Amino acid sequence: MWVSRISCLGTQAVKILTRGLLFGHFVRIPRTPYIHVSSSRLLQLLPQTPQYFCTTSAADSSEDGNEEEQTINVTFVETDGMEKHCKVPIGTNMLEAAHSNDIELEGACEGSCACSTCHVIVMDMDQYNRLPDPTDEENDMLDLAFGLTETSRLGCQIEAKPEMDAIRLALPVATRNFAVDGHKPKPH
Ligand code: FES
Repeated sequence: MWVSRISCLGTQAVKILTRGLLFGHFVRIPRTPYIHVSSSRLLQLLPQTPQYFCTTSAADSSEDGNEEEQTINVTFVETDGMEKHCKVPIGTNMLEAAHSNDIELEGACEGSCACSTCHVIVMDMDQYNRLPDPTDEENDMLDLAFGLTETSRLGCQIEAKPEMDAIRLALPVATRNFAVDGHKPKPH
């Protein structure tokens, strides 16, 4: 039905436009002499047609990836062995990511690299090697961490990057807090 209606409207439009072209925009309105009309008026003479809208929504336009927030997959393995899979936006550090996902990773100095309570263990050596090297400040704090391993890092010093996708981070069974004794900030 729509196809035939559109086709019918199209035919009428072509007829009127053809007359406009043949007669130099002189269009004959029934029972009137030929009159000169502008192009915009010519369009107004077309029969009323329903409005047709593009069905592509704003949400669809973001599907091309331009507007969509880029994330990576991060798995936190908690002290009881439970795994939590999270989508972490690029640029977010692992302490923020843990807190956004209700994972109890401490962060006594709130990310200022002045404690070791956000200690995490990268579970895969390949993933560990893909991380930027720790700074001297981070290494100094790591030296104070409980249960230090060769793939230990401070969560607040690891920012999500595309090459870190699928990283797995284990929370140590204990932390040592020399900087802010007993302070345990709540997740933001
Ligand atoms: Fe203190 Fe990361 S929260 S070093």
